[in-house]
Amino acid sequence: MKKIGLFYGPLGGSTEKVAKKVATALGNENVDLIPVKNSKAINVEKYDNIIFGMSTIGKETWESDKPANDWDVFLPEIEKINYSNKVIAMFGLGDQISYDLHFVDAMGIVGEKISQKGGLIVGHVSTDGYDFRESLAVKDGKFIGLPVNEDFEPELTDKRVNNWVKSIKPLFK
Ligand SMILES: Cc1cc2nc3c(=O)[nH]c(=O)nc-3n(C[C@H](O)[C@H](O)[C@H](O)COP(=O)(O)O)c2cc1C
Repeated sequence: MKKIGLFYGPLGGSTEKVAKKVATALGNENVDLIPVKNSKAINVEKYDNIIFGMSTIGKETWESDKPANDWDVFLPEIEKINYSNKVIAMFGLGDQISYDLHFVDAMGIVGEKISQKGGLIVGHVSTDGYDFRESLAVKDGKFIGLPVNEDFEPELTDKRVNNWVKSIKPLFK
């Protein structure tokens, strides 16, 4: 298998913690862990196997004029990436207890841009076991990536990560 570029942000919180768990589950030797902050499309294009890891910190932030977090800053790069021959998977930190109308929306926003450019997103996840009302990350009845809730369901994280990694690992090149 070719190396996987795992681009994640923000640093220092639950997203980083889960990014490291995903890398361990895939085999650390197979993964380059790269902060998305300051990354450019050209850095992502070096990889055919790509994972994007992010948290959702609110709709108002995504739509604000001033970039406020790592993914706001990176969003324009998402549209510049040439996705031909690339396999992309995503995980998203969120909290469906406090934000049940915007659960892991960030994955939906990023995923929509990737799909518009013809990118192949793998690793869709059943909504079973997640109690929420609305999420931009649900397409055709499934999450387009793995939702993780470290705020209220940290005991489920390892199982969620390991099951997801088992499903995506064979799909990488
Ligand atoms: C101000 C704020 C807004 C948030 N908005 C959302 C949201 O809209 N949807 C969601 O699923 N989680 C939301 N969350 C929960 C975070 O995504 C969650 O705490 C996540 O684990 C944070 O990851 P981080 O430590 O890597 O930043 C919000 C958290 C904060 C503090």
